Amino acid sequence: TMILVWIVLFLSVNLTECVPEKPKRSTLNQLTRTLLRKYDCGVRPVHNWTSSTTVYIDLILQSVLDVDGKTQSITTSIWYRQIWRDEFLVWDPEDFDGITELSLSSDAIWVPDIIVTEFVEEGKSPPIPYVYVNSSGSVRNYRPIQAVLACSLEMYAFPFDKQNCSLTFRSWLHSVKEIDLALWRSAEAIAGDKREFMNDGEWELLSVPSQYWQIRQDDADYAQIQFNLLIRRRPLLYVVGLLIPSIFLMLVDVVSFYLPLNSGTRIAFKISILLGYTVFRVNLTDELPATALRTPLIGVFFVVCMAMLMLSLIKSILVVKLLHHSEKEVKQMSLSACLLDRYGSAGHSLSESALTSIKTLDNIYAPGDYELESSLEEDLLSLNDVPDPPSGLEWLLQELVSLRMAFSQEDSESSAQAEWLSLCLRLDRLLFRFYLLVLAVYTGTLLLLWARWSFT
Ligand SMILES: *[C@@H]1O[C@H](CO)[C@@H](O)[C@H](O)[C@H]1NC(C)=O
Ligand SMILES: *[C@@H]1O[C@H](CO)[C@@H](O)[C@H](O)[C@H]1NC(C)=O
Ligand SMILES: *[C@@H]1O[C@H](CO)[C@@H](O)[C@H](O)[C@H]1NC(C)=O
Repeated sequence: TMILVWIVLFLSVNLTECVPEKPKRSTLNQLTRTLLRKYDCGVRPVHNWTSSTTVYIDLILQSVLDVDGKTQSITTSIWYRQIWRDEFLVWDPEDFDGITELSLSSDAIWVPDIIVTEFVEEGKSPPIPYVYVNSSGSVRNYRPIQAVLACSLEMYAFPFDKQNCSLTFRSWLHSVKEIDLALWRSAEAIAGDKREFMNDGEWELLSVPSQYWQIRQDDADYAQIQFNLLIRRRPLLYVVGLLIPSIFLMLVDVVSFYLPLNSGTRIAFKISILLGYTVFRVNLTDELPATALRTPLIGVFFVVCMAMLMLSLIKSILVVKLLHHSEKEVKQMSLSACLLDRYGSAGHSLSESALTSIKTLDNIYAPGDYELESSLEEDLLSLNDVPDPPSGLEWLLQELVSLRMAFSQEDSESSAQAEWLSLCLRLDRLLFRFYLLVLAVYTGTLLLLWARWSFT
């Protein structure tokens, strides 16, 4: 029997040598199988159901891709991290070749249902199918998210605006008894983290403050963490493209006051400025943010600029129209001229202007020229009174007198015209001063508003 046993043993050893050895599983494979053998990915991974799972959240803003005032949404690209402890994914590295970390398919294990409540649509985020697990059961789930967020955008101060958009993370279903949230890094570290932010675009990242709180809904408390993305627009592009051309046109318009009033080119010039401005505005309609509720200040700016150009055109038309009034009307309007003269010299003190007005009254109602004229007429009349038919010499004298009269008439006419021109110029200057005042008030108000918006 001993020999038989030996033979059988010998044969069996031979047999095992002949059968090709089954390939041994890699340690990684073994570990994965060991971990997932009894794992149920639908069950929250805690031994004692009363203990909650704390999910640590971290967020890095990478870029702001789009800010849309019409749909009140903002498109951002963020790096999102969530870390939690899975009590079932624990092993001893000694038993598995010293493996301390391992990646698992995220479909195979439990992942928390944390979402952002402001999501309008989850954009083109690349799917990341793995999570990282270490030997003490800590699961790291890192993924980039390109998200379109609903955000109430305040476009009033465009292009000097700041926006405050929030990203609120919470578990949609699990109350705080099951899933609690916490920040992975300190709030200060997250707020000041601008390393990854692509800082060359239109938006500048100010900070990302965050806060944790619990909200009560249907008799259950839900944990949530809110990140506020504080971003500021870089206005340079818009200042160069929108504001400065406008300001240039306004300046040219102001300078066109120095064109001579009676040459008639001023109106044509102002009309061409207005036309240029209209073309400029039509071209820029697309660049302005569209908001339904409140017109941005820059829209008001453009409209008021246009109104100012129109005002200046109307002013010029008015003055030119006055200038071309006929002589008769000039005399009729001497009263209004006197009134104008009183208020025309706006810079003078009241008493001074009163004095000038009195002088003007004197000039108008008792001018030396008129006296001369009347005396001349008397002369003429006395000449006419001579009963004898005019001899050669007398005829010559008469002719000379009539010639002199005609000359003096022309003189007085031209002097009246000059007076009228100076009056019109004075009116023009007055209106110009008024225009400048309105312009200054307008500029001041606008600067104040924009400064208030951008520096608070
Ligand atoms: C679960 O934890 C609670 C308190 O932490 C304890 O009172 C309870 O006994 C535990 N249950 C089990 C089954 O260990
Ligand atoms: C696993 O990861 C967590 C968090 O990153 C860390 O606190 C813990 O020390 C790690 N455990 C081991 C064994 O490396
Ligand atoms: C941003 O908005 C949130 C609420 O939406 C508010 O709590 C926070 O104070 C705001 N931050 C700033 C700087 O205005």
